Amino acid sequence: MQLLDGKYVSEKLKVEIAEQAAEILANTGRKPHLVAVLVGHDGGSETYVASKMKNCEKVGFKSTLVRYEDDVTEEELLAKVAELNADEDIDGIIVQLPLPKHIDPEKVTERIDHRKDVDGFHPVNLGRMQRNLPSFIPATPYGITLMLKEYGVETAGKHCVVVGRSNIVGSPMSILMARNTYPGNCTVTICHSRTPDIKKFTLDADILIVAIGKKNFITADMVKEGTVVIDVGMNRETSTLTKSGYKLYGDVDFENVAPKASWITPVPGGVGLMTIIGLLKNTLASAKGEVY
Ligand code: GUN
Repeated sequence: MQLLDGKYVSEKLKVEIAEQAAEILANTGRKPHLVAVLVGHDGGSETYVASKMKNCEKVGFKSTLVRYEDDVTEEELLAKVAELNADEDIDGIIVQLPLPKHIDPEKVTERIDHRKDVDGFHPVNLGRMQRNLPSFIPATPYGITLMLKEYGVETAGKHCVVVGRSNIVGSPMSILMARNTYPGNCTVTICHSRTPDIKKFTLDADILIVAIGKKNFITADMVKEGTVVIDVGMNRETSTLTKSGYKLYGDVDFENVAPKASWITPVPGGVGLMTIIGLLKNTLASAKGEVY
């Protein structure tokens, strides 16, 4: 078993991103600028957004956090999105999900100018990605492709099984792995909550990507020898043993699955760190005008 080390790859790619940000600053006098909108005080969202902002600073981007309380109206939020769309100093806009129940996330996502949609959630970007056109690719799937590329993991002709069909991970991931690119050229199966006997499919996977949000969902009896295992799970449990007050678990029973895997991502230290890289690379691409 070999580790797909998110810490190593993300640190390496951050150096490259910082170099390119410095070049943009030297040539244009401005830094790539990401704005994050955070509504409420969800523990996970607070952590993720803080990490996104911190990493922007690390690579020499400008970052701005716009905060609202849970009771912000959909109208107020949409007005802010319109204002950010019109601001020429801004390259990327993300609205952290989930949003409170009274706000329609689809409506907010569609209002973000697709040329600033560095989350890659806008239908225009989703369609462009599927067609292999310049687009922003959702950060987590993008980060996973960068990790596979870094380690030269072979994907062509493989059976890739994606567990989970979310707009953020499972669905775009399945499109990327089926595309005629590297990484890609896989035969893709998507499993979800209404799939009977998921094990039947996971046992046939050469590449298994799990984004279902359930601790230890994938057990050793569900994977064959030599499978590439990508664990997208970020399951938080309160713990008195860590400084942060919580401990992070993936969707895969790492201890028992790892001995059977050819490659595997740890949690923490795997995909989560690569998600940030996907977001930074999208913001950089926007600042360079590469996506339109
Ligand atoms: N919530 C969980 N992951 C993400 C993400 O990548 N972007 C946004 N905006 N919200 C999220």
